[in-house]
Amino acid sequence: MTGMFELTDADRERAAAHIEQARAEAADISLPAGVAPRPVHTVAVVGAGTMGGGIAMACANAGLEVWLVDAEAAGLARGLARVREQYAASVQRGRLTAQAMDERLARIRGTLVLADAAAADLWVEAVFEDLVLKQSLFRQIDAVARPGAVLATNTSGLDIDAIAAATSRPQDVAGAHFFSPAHVMKLLEVVRAAQTAPDVLATLMALGARLGKTAVLARVYPGFIGNALFRQYNREAHFLVEDGALPHEVDAALTGFGYAMGIFAVHDMAGNDVGYPTRKAQMATRDPARRWNDLIMKLVEQGRLGQKSGRGWYRYDSGRREPQRDPEFEAWLVAESQRLGRQRRPIGTEEILERCLYGMVNEGARLLEQGIALRPGDIDLVYLTGYGFPAAQGGPMFMADRIGLPRVLAAVERLHAEHGVWWEPAPLLRRLAQAGSSFGQWARERG
Ligand SMILES: NC(=O)c1ccc[n+]([C@@H]2O[C@H](COP(=O)([O-])OP(=O)(O)OC[C@H]3O[C@@H](n4cnc5c(N)ncnc54)[C@H](O)[C@@H]3O)[C@@H](O)[C@H]2O)c1
Repeated sequence: MTGMFELTDADRERAAAHIEQARAEAADISLPAGVAPRPVHTVAVVGAGTMGGGIAMACANAGLEVWLVDAEAAGLARGLARVREQYAASVQRGRLTAQAMDERLARIRGTLVLADAAAADLWVEAVFEDLVLKQSLFRQIDAVARPGAVLATNTSGLDIDAIAAATSRPQDVAGAHFFSPAHVMKLLEVVRAAQTAPDVLATLMALGARLGKTAVLARVYPGFIGNALFRQYNREAHFLVEDGALPHEVDAALTGFGYAMGIFAVHDMAGNDVGYPTRKAQMATRDPARRWNDLIMKLVEQGRLGQKSGRGWYRYDSGRREPQRDPEFEAWLVAESQRLGRQRRPIGTEEILERCLYGMVNEGARLLEQGIALRPGDIDLVYLTGYGFPAAQGGPMFMADRIGLPRVLAAVERLHAEHGVWWEPAPLLRRLAQAGSSFGQWARERG
């Protein structure tokens, strides 16, 4: 790694100290004095899919009693079987005793009837990502849940105010955004909706700590903190391969920066079809004045789902996970860029990193200014615990401070001039850069 993304030992030490401080501060969400978490002994997890099963395990592991609810007998059976398999695998690997597995399993009860969980202290909804479905479910939960229960949704990005409005008790509704696999990943975004009561937030922040997770408070915003920044990173990576870089070049720049995997290798691992329906649905409401990128949808349509189909952004030898360059795909990519009218050109590491990383910083500045995130350190924590951002860099906002905001702003302005509206500089970034300040200083001055 060269240039401004390179770190000295002193930089690494400062990053480690910053993360430690950010961890200590994240739990302080400035609630009025005397606000205490509501007691939680029993949790109802609704939706026994990928997320619901993981959330149920995370809760059972922490000693909570869990109801796992699904609308479909088959869905419930699959969910419970997956939970059993995951525990059994941990026992086999020597990470869990058979007795601990039995105790945890005994804490998770499955049901198809919401009312069975009526006494739950906390509900976590994890059904399909569909606003109408979630609203209808929250109406049903509202009808059976005991007064004072906390009603949380694990939505990845739907409007939680619209979900809360379906109930008679919007003050009890908030977001509890877990990451997959939910019993492993250490991040919990707690999302405050317009009417969420302070003690509901306290309850969810305390839940995060009890589950051994880093809980970070966000407000309602498309993608909350983590996915709002991820959108910028993901978008630029895809534009880069249209503009002339090849997937392995983007990935090599990112791993050189410190990510364990590059973004295209990650897409191939997760499955390029993840999010396909959502993306397709969004196409209808897109601003035609903006540049968009649909390469990943085209991959899916060609059966390039990633590791599971043996080909995606890379090709995979049978049964193996190492990405190999795929000349057939690269030839298609070059032809596709030309079809889109792009003049392909060689793109160096520094441009790849600037475009992948500075969009996140710019969006982070927007989140701070709007109060979606409370502090730059919170954004950094989200990135380190949920998105694999290299710890040595201290998180995107800390990295920007290290590089110097005037330098970051200059790059964002240049990218804005070259690429247009996606790169419009955030007012806070501009203000701090022009004042010779930093995100860290801004946070300290606000106290
Ligand atoms: N998968 C991820 O990586 C991830 C990460 C964070 C958040 N989320 C969010 O979590 C939620 C669940 O995602 P998932 O990937 O676990 O979905 P999934 O498709 O694996 O599981 C959804 C489950 O909900 C059940 N269900 C549907 N309608 C129901 C109802 N009315 N009552 C009870 N159960 C019902 C289904 O039978 C299914 O078992 C979504 O909102 C998603 O956006 C997902």
